[in-house]
Amino acid sequence: MSRKSSSKISRRHFVEGTGAGLVAAATVAPLKGQAPGADVKNRTQGAPSSPPRTKIKFTINGAERGMEVEDHWTLVELLRDHLGLTGSKIGCDRGECGACTVLLDGKSVYSCSQLGVWIDGKSIITIEGLAKNGRLDPLQQAFIDHDGPQCGFCTSGQLMSAKALLMHNPHPSAEEVRAGMTGNICRCSNYNHYVEAVLAASAAGPSTGSGGNAA
Ligand code: FES
Ligand code: FES
Repeated sequence: MSRKSSSKISRRHFVEGTGAGLVAAATVAPLKGQAPGADVKNRTQGAPSSPPRTKIKFTINGAERGMEVEDHWTLVELLRDHLGLTGSKIGCDRGECGACTVLLDGKSVYSCSQLGVWIDGKSIITIEGLAKNGRLDPLQQAFIDHDGPQCGFCTSGQLMSAKALLMHNPHPSAEEVRAGMTGNICRCSNYNHYVEAVLAASAAGPSTGSGGNAA
């Protein structure tokens, strides 16, 4: 037998053998007392029909709120998609850019890196909570006066980090401002203007330091 014909037989036998195996697998008898397909049904019966949810209570921009959240929602998802607070932006969605920064019990955090369910019993301030009675927070006004926002995508995060900084250090040096906002990336590279704005707001008075504007 030539090498060629041997190879052909070999392939045919392989295909025949594999086909027989597939047929056997498809027609395998159900377990004793079990209807065909019942094992598949049993395996899927235990699967949850929807993600786990948890009831939480929290304060958002001074207002108390209660709601049921899916346990896998991030805080920024909760804010943007379920509370309509779209001022917090999603840049990287993995804790690198700072566009999603909010205040959690007075501390700046990346809301993309927190679960929504974790804010149970806590207080959140977002960019929407800075202005009061239609008046901008002095920090916001300083950002405008010093041409902070260029494309503006990073601005709400920059503001929230600046807010947290002034709440804890009302009169920072330029170096302290840079250090305090180091976790906020500006793709327009307008860092110097942001620093000038924070220093100007700091010099203007203590109103930016209370955090009470959010109420
Ligand atoms: S979107 Fe949260 S840190 Fe970039
Ligand atoms: S102003 Fe454009 S990213 Fe900062």
